[in-house]
Amino acid sequence: MNQDARKVIARIDNATLAFGDKVVLKNLSFDVAEGAITCVIGLSGAGKSTILRLLDGLLLPSEGHVYVRGEDICHMNEEQLNRVRQKISLSFQFSALLDSLTVGENVALPLREHTKLSEAEIRKTVLDALDSVGLAHTYDNLPNELSGGMLKRAGFARAIVTRPDLVLYDEPTTGLDPIVTNLITDTILKLRQKLHGTAVVISHDLPSIFAMADYIAMLFEGAIIACDTAESIRSSTNPIVQQFLQGSEVGPIPI
Ligand SMILES: Nc1ncnc2c1ncn2[C@@H]1O[C@H](COP(=O)(O)OP(=O)(O)OP(=O)(O)O)[C@@H](O)[C@H]1O
Ligand SMILES: [Mg+2]
Repeated sequence: MNQDARKVIARIDNATLAFGDKVVLKNLSFDVAEGAITCVIGLSGAGKSTILRLLDGLLLPSEGHVYVRGEDICHMNEEQLNRVRQKISLSFQFSALLDSLTVGENVALPLREHTKLSEAEIRKTVLDALDSVGLAHTYDNLPNELSGGMLKRAGFARAIVTRPDLVLYDEPTTGLDPIVTNLITDTILKLRQKLHGTAVVISHDLPSIFAMADYIAMLFEGAIIACDTAESIRSSTNPIVQQFLQGSEVGPIPI
């Protein structure tokens, strides 16, 4: 990877992972550069969400290692893992707000779980997180009163409310119209600035990827086959990368 000068906040090192007989990741290595937005691209079902679950310690590789800030999280007990997880947030592919709680209560959940803030401090922190995604006015609403784009952004507010160092966004713009997609892309960029943090974003939306990515990694047949600056990936000579970017049916990717 062409980022020698970059500090690595998380690293997947030679990981293999299978579900039953199905090998999803094979000897996969992936570095997450600190302070940057890295987008992961790849075919549906390639294992992109699985990579995020590895980085968050929700899944273990059968071989290989996952390091966060240099610590191997594969051999941690639950308590050690929870300590690392307090600094990592996963914003799920399918926004997972609890229907029975208000938006404010949903966003407050990580604070109640991980901090000892007073009720007044929780309210202030939640309102601040909602404000940063333009949703402070929805504090008392129930999730089913929000549109799809608003639900996504409420999910982001919950993901960043504890001010994590590393935010993992799984398909933040899938299924949204182009205007909301732009809004979400801007929100991710704004949140990165607010947290001075690092993000890994899984996305299929190329304009949105090129608008926000510092680095792009391509997952193909279980491994990261290319990872470089967005501009280098755009002009990559790798035929698999080019076929994917052009959405062409002709090329080395089996359809
Ligand atoms: N818990 C699980 N049990 C069994 N198989 C699983 C599990 N999770 C994922 N898989 C399989 O592993 C493969 C990779 O899944 P993953 O969700 O990581 O792909 P993805 O690249 O995120 O796909 P998409 O673009 O559709 O979201 C898929 O074939 C999926 O069916
Ligand atoms: Mg997925």
